Amino acid sequence: MLQDSHSTTQDSAITKESGKVGWKSPSNIAIIKYWGKYGDQLPKNPSISFTLSKSLTETEVRWKKGSSGVDVYFEEARNEAFAQRLRKVVTRLEREIPVIKDMFFEVHTKNTFPHSAGIASSASALSAFALCLCSIEQYYVGGESHEAFLAKASHCSRLGSGSAARSVYGQWVEWGESDFNPAYSNEYALPMDAIHPSFHTIKDSILIISDEEKSVSSSVGHKLMEENPYATIRFQQAKDRIQTLSKALKEGDWDTFGHIAESEALTLHSLMMSSRSSYILMRPNSITAVEKIRSFRKKTGLPIYFTLDAGPNLHVLYPASIEAEAKAFISSELAPLCTNNLVIYDEIGSGPENFITIT
Ligand code: PMV
Repeated sequence: MLQDSHSTTQDSAITKESGKVGWKSPSNIAIIKYWGKYGDQLPKNPSISFTLSKSLTETEVRWKKGSSGVDVYFEEARNEAFAQRLRKVVTRLEREIPVIKDMFFEVHTKNTFPHSAGIASSASALSAFALCLCSIEQYYVGGESHEAFLAKASHCSRLGSGSAARSVYGQWVEWGESDFNPAYSNEYALPMDAIHPSFHTIKDSILIISDEEKSVSSSVGHKLMEENPYATIRFQQAKDRIQTLSKALKEGDWDTFGHIAESEALTLHSLMMSSRSSYILMRPNSITAVEKIRSFRKKTGLPIYFTLDAGPNLHVLYPASIEAEAKAFISSELAPLCTNNLVIYDEIGSGPENFITIT
């Protein structure tokens, strides 16, 4: 293990040989999905997500100058598979953050949610790691505005995992070029403005239908889009929806929001099913939950909707104003469909937290 031997004197601070930094970074859930990429982890279509509050990764990076390499301790146990992934990320990031070239990293990381539960753990894990490396750069090189720091952290997160680009901000986030809003880029995500108050407090109850490891990874899924017969029309659909969803979020239009959220979820899974190597990540209880949510909505008129990530677990979305009714429904009708009745009652959050600052 590395010793935390960094200097305490003011003069030697910038030249210190070792140190530590820590970021907690949340997962995010996309309403318009990123599915299909090109080049250096660039998206084939723009996406919109909101950042979660409780589902996060906490990462501490201890660095030492003079050699290179990455060791990873995941939930306190050494994890070679994770270390290999982060070694590749560091190699890619050496171009972006030259100061890390001659550093050894010991990474201690843990999640607040079940690993590979279909909650985007790569988004929280890779954004937490990228934020740590960007803090190290800022420490040695200095001088960026907070906005520029976050844009760079988003760019670096993207090189680790595309959806991680959106996790460096709280609230509603957009990533990817669209005709509707030329301010957005494929290189990094940016926060959205003009959001109706009811969407500032959106709730997301995550139904853990299965906590088993996904049978097909997202990177394989992205790759399969290269030959998917519906790819071109799908990318156009997502581009068109950016404008419709932005308007709905601005006006507090839950009906349009819900239609897009559910259609995007089922479109994502349809694309998996219609790939050359077809696969199904939903489980029978995912479908039962979809039907129960739709019939509850019809019966009560309440604005309660679902989305899915690349896994079997539903995210149940509703405004804070109906929390009591929604929770009663979820615990009586939907929790029994989950592994060990597990529902994570999450909500929109305010973004990453720098819990260990470099001193
Ligand atoms: O970030 P990746 O490469 O794991 O892709 C994940 C894409 C989805 O989670 C399925 C959708 C999205 O936009 O987050």
